[in-house]
This record gives sequence, structure tokens and C-alpha cells, in this order.
Amino acid sequence: MKTVVEGRDIKKYFIASKSLFGKTEYVRAVDHVDIEIYDNSVLALVGESGSGKTTLGRILAGILKPDEGSVLFKGIDIYRDGLTRDIRHKIQVIFQNPDSSLNPRMRILDILGEAIKEIEPTISKDDLEDRAAQLLENVNLHVDHLYKYPHELSGGEKQRVAIARALAVNPEFIVADEPVSALDISIRAQIINLLNSIQKRLRISMLYIAHDLRTVWNISDYVAVMYLGKIVEYGETEKVFRNVAHPYTATLLTSAPLMPKEFRKHEIYPVGEPPSLIDPPSGCRFHTRCPIAREECKKLDMKLEEIEDGHYTACPFLK
Ligand SMILES: Nc1ncnc2c1ncn2[C@@H]1O[C@H](COP(=O)(O)OP(=O)(O)OP(=O)(O)O)[C@@H](O)[C@H]1O
Ligand code: SF4
Ligand SMILES: [Mg+2]
Repeated sequence: MKTVVEGRDIKKYFIASKSLFGKTEYVRAVDHVDIEIYDNSVLALVGESGSGKTTLGRILAGILKPDEGSVLFKGIDIYRDGLTRDIRHKIQVIFQNPDSSLNPRMRILDILGEAIKEIEPTISKDDLEDRAAQLLENVNLHVDHLYKYPHELSGGEKQRVAIARALAVNPEFIVADEPVSALDISIRAQIINLLNSIQKRLRISMLYIAHDLRTVWNISDYVAVMYLGKIVEYGETEKVFRNVAHPYTATLLTSAPLMPKEFRKHEIYPVGEPPSLIDPPSGCRFHTRCPIAREECKKLDMKLEEIEDGHYTACPFLK
């Protein structure tokens, strides 16, 4: 399997507070993470709110420089060697809320036109209009929408436009950060199916950040589970769901609605409250909430170990 994007030992801390006496506290949003996204495949990144998913996604998309570590896009270190124009086009992001990513003062034609001209600066007006119409067709929107402004569209239609704009520059890697969570429940499945079919047809690699494990099961080939800035379990979605090997993943699967019974191999629930990312627990960071924690977990290194082909976990105790 060819790797398209590789994050190596990525660290990103944000300043949480600075005291008058010079003490600085940091939010350890991403804490030494390794991650790979393969050619023509979807890696889902899951974990509870604040676990660092968006921060990691932005770093992999080339829009947030990590403090340490590197991101390689097809072997090119994008932060060390610079993000060329070409690579910038090849990596696109679809955000949670299309309202914040579409300029309200531009018609859809101009929004798409701006993206098309990025790769075809000398395109004629007629060709540009044809190409924009074709992009709308690809996301199942009527050509009439070209002449509308974002506020004249529904949430789902706006997200379709955001997807069309990402496709305008022929991307090879898309970071979709909770692309449906701001939308009405009734239309989420349509947008997910659209993303899924586009990914398959155009053979795009995708990082799909999500909360909904049912969707993750439906569309992802691989899954990485994040807890307090660390990846705790990783592998083919099928293996991770059927043979869950980290208690945190097990708690997510146990609490997920509408999941088949076979994914509840360990029916367990977290205890206590989520700890702070400023001062995370020692050893295994999940030990304060893990129902099967033991004394030695407080000192355990959270190294991922392979337990079956391509399936890794940071917990040696869940059997
Ligand atoms: N620019 C920033 N400045 C300071 N802290 C930040 C910044 N961006 C993120 N954080 C903090 O980093 C941590 C991880 O945030 P992040 O948005 O990556 O989490 P997430 O997993 O995407 O959460 P959610 O599921 O709610 O989207 C959070 O504690 C957040 O408050
Ligand atoms: S290492 Fe210990 S605390 Fe951490 S997940 Fe495993 S059993 Fe729970
Ligand atoms: Mg997020």
C-alpha cells in the first residue's frame, strides 16, 4: 500500500496561560503522534471533543505548523521544504461549517471560478462557466445554483458547494473535518454518500474526522482513535471494530448508537470525568477513566504495539 501522507512524531502544544512569574501552561493538543494515510483510502480519526483531531487534521493539511515532527506529502516534507503551489492544490480541506468557508459576498460561480483559475489561470469565461457547471453536477446540484449567493442555499447545498470547490483543483488528499455535524440530521447521509462516491471514483486519499462510528464503519478503510492528544488504537476499520484492543475504543463502541452487537466485544463504560489536556495523567492517559486500570498503568509508556497484522494498540491489558 502506497503512503500518500505521513505524519512523523508530530507535536503541537498551545499556550493555555502565562503567569506573572513566567510560568507557562500548555494545552498538549497533539503529543508525539505518528500517522499514515494510504493511496485511495479513507482513514477515519475518531475521539471525543478536544482530543486533538482538528489540530492533527490541520497539521496534515499543511495549514498549521507543528512544533515538532514532520509531514510528508508523497515524500516531500511540506513544512521543511515549503508548501509549493502544486501541493497546496493537491491537499484540500472540507470544514465542519460551510458558512465559515464560503465568502457570503461571492456568487457560487465566482467561488468556484476562483478555485478553477488557480490551476487554469487563462481559462476563457465560457469554459470557466462550463467547468463550474460540471463541478456542480458532480455534487448533484443544479446549474442554476451558479448564479446564487451562499445565503440563498440550504446548509447541505452549501456543503456540496464546498466539496465542489475542493474538487476544482484536482486534489489527491482531502481532510474532511466533521463535514456533516453542522448539518440537519436528515441530509447527513446524502452528503456522506456523496463524499464516499467521490472518493472512490476519483481515488482520493482522505482523512475523515468524525464522531459517528456508524459512518466511520461505512466509509473508512482504516481508523485511528485519539485520546488526549495521543493515538491509542489504529488499524483497518474491520479489525479495530471486530477485535477492539483498547478500552477507550471499546467505550466508544459501547456508547455508539445503532452499532451491530459484534462490535461490542467488550461492553465497558468510562468512569469519572475527562482530565485536562494541560496536565494529562501520567503513564497511560486513560488510566483515570479506564474501568480495567491497574496500578502499573500509571507508569506505562503509551507505545503502540502491533497485535495482529496492521492493528496496533497502546494497551497491553485488554484481552
Ligand atoms: N488555536 C488554539 N489555541 C489554543 N488552544 C487550542 C487552539 N486550537 C485548539 N486548541 C485546544 O487544543 C485542544 C484540541 O483541540 P481540537 O480542536 O484539535 O480538538 P478536537 O478533537 O477537534 O475536538 P472537537 O471534537 O470538539 O472538534 C483543545 O483543548 C482545544 O481547546
Ligand atoms: S493501559 Fe491500563 S489504563 Fe490504559 S487502557 Fe490499558 S488497562 Fe486501561
Ligand atoms: Mg474538531
